[in-house]
Amino acid sequence: MKTRLLTERDIDAAATILRRGGLLGIPTETVYGLGADGLNPEAVRRIFEAKGRPQDNPLILHIPEASWLERYCRDVPAAAYTLAERFWPGPLTMILHRRENVPDEVTCGLGTVGMRCPNHPVTLAIIRAAEAPVAAPSGNRSGRPSPTCAAHMMEDMNGRIDAIVDGGSCGVGVESTIIDLTVPMPRLLRPGGLSLEALRAVLGEVAVDGAVLAPMAAGERPRAPGMKYRHYAPKAPVTVVTGQAVGTARYIREKMGEHTGVICFDEYAGWFPGCIVESIGSAGAPEEQARRVFDALRAFDSTDAAEIFAQCPGDAGLGLAVANRLKKAAGFHTVDLGEGEL
Ligand code: TXA
Ligand code: MG
Repeated sequence: MKTRLLTERDIDAAATILRRGGLLGIPTETVYGLGADGLNPEAVRRIFEAKGRPQDNPLILHIPEASWLERYCRDVPAAAYTLAERFWPGPLTMILHRRENVPDEVTCGLGTVGMRCPNHPVTLAIIRAAEAPVAAPSGNRSGRPSPTCAAHMMEDMNGRIDAIVDGGSCGVGVESTIIDLTVPMPRLLRPGGLSLEALRAVLGEVAVDGAVLAPMAAGERPRAPGMKYRHYAPKAPVTVVTGQAVGTARYIREKMGEHTGVICFDEYAGWFPGCIVESIGSAGAPEEQARRVFDALRAFDSTDAAEIFAQCPGDAGLGLAVANRLKKAAGFHTVDLGEGEL
């Protein structure tokens, strides 16, 4: 199969691919997605094949507005509409009780389904034109960093899917925040492009699932099945160093050798001579770090980096999502220097 590259003007061609059960790369504000008609079980099955995705990892449905929630979800709590009004279209996925019309292929048999309204005009137009909710995981091959531009998605998916719509670079750069609204206390399952602080400002208390901060114990059942897999990983092993920025930079300087890759904040880009350095933004700018972190992880695969160290931001704002992606890329292999270390 030859994978076509479509432009923002090809809305009808893109919608036709979806209606015919094909696979389509779609731009969103977070990362590129690998979309199919979410009501077509056969098409949804092909997503898993193209990605090499484990069969027990459910997909989320993309809709153009909150009024579509009722079509695919039941017992939708008022909080869902409050959040939709405040944050949709935007980087927030809500886990809700599903209706029977949502295929088991999407939910992997769960009684719940993730719902998201992406903030990208082209993709919203494609979904409306296809007149179907679009099931879409991130557009990387399973285990790889998520793609934040059409070229990165082409790297992973060329020959495996019908087309990719080039909608430019993703403005957020990490996937959506996932919140479970089917439990008594709303629960953060994946930190992402919408901060925990923003959710708490609207909902009051929000619990944070254990899988966000630490690896799953053997045999433990994650609430977001995707959280149990090593993810986003470059080929070389990654070590994440947490603590104050200057302390983590010093630590990495002590460890660095000839084929060392370093993910660092802009202020420290000159600290690692001879290393392969990817800076991801200023230490105090987690939104910029979010935009650049997947590209940095991806970049090492075309180098001879044999090991990679990463400076890790704190948990405030989008820092929680950046830290989570780095730690997952590292398989949670983390060195914690503590807050006071300088
Ligand atoms: O920003 C995003 O969310 C991107 C773009 C393309 O929209 N999509 C994305 O999809 O990141 P994916 O499949 O890579 O990640 C979705 C996560 C997975 O970890 C999955 O296990 C979890 O959502 N998930 C899906 N349905 C769920 C459910 N019913 N209950 C709990 N977790 C669920
Ligand atoms: Mg993904």
